[in-house]
Amino acid sequence: MAVVKIVFHSGTGNTRCLAEAVHRGAAAHADAELMEITGSMISDGRFTDEDFLAKLDSADAIIFGSPTYMGMVSGQMKCFFDATSQRWMSGAWNSKLAAGFTTSLGLSGDKQSTLSYLVTVSCQHGMIWVSCDAPNGLFQGASMEEATNRLSSNTGVMSQVNFGPEFHPTPGDERTGELLGERVAKLAARLA
Ligand SMILES: Cc1cc2nc3c(=O)[nH]c(=O)nc-3n(C[C@H](O)[C@H](O)[C@H](O)COP(=O)(O)O)c2cc1C
Repeated sequence: MAVVKIVFHSGTGNTRCLAEAVHRGAAAHADAELMEITGSMISDGRFTDEDFLAKLDSADAIIFGSPTYMGMVSGQMKCFFDATSQRWMSGAWNSKLAAGFTTSLGLSGDKQSTLSYLVTVSCQHGMIWVSCDAPNGLFQGASMEEATNRLSSNTGVMSQVNFGPEFHPTPGDERTGELLGERVAKLAARLA
């Protein structure tokens, strides 16, 4: 069975909610695992959890998720990526599949910038980026809550969440995450 890891950071739970949706989708077709980056893995500004990194070496696909902070991935996520530079040197992640997702408060919120960074760092590793092909459900008459890919993002999954603990990614955003997980898992199975 193909191995898919979902690596994410989440400050207040929105990105975790989307990560769980991606995991649900992937787990239906692959050996999928959620791997959360936390502040405790960072010491003196460096991501130091070598076991966490080593677990990724055997994955067929890695799906990255981050909140959009100041128009980019979160600092925690960036520390994680900085710690992958040895793997970049050795080409350890070459030809693995990669994909990504992000949440933000703003309808735009500069989420594209976050996804573009995830594409860039994945391509630096020689990974093969998998796009989000979920149709925009608004075109099929679905409501803003239920529509898949309502923000029309094809680079990766985008979710917009209003401010406050009572708000979470919409059912449509979660479904879009599930579809990305499914897509990556099926492609990984084909390549494995
Ligand atoms: C430090 C910080 C920076 C943020 N920057 C942005 C931003 O650039 N654009 C935006 O739309 N939302 C921004 N937000 C809002 C978060 O992206 C949004 O609340 C997101 O869903 C949080 O995800 P999380 O619950 O997984 O931490 C920011 C929030 C924080 C705490």
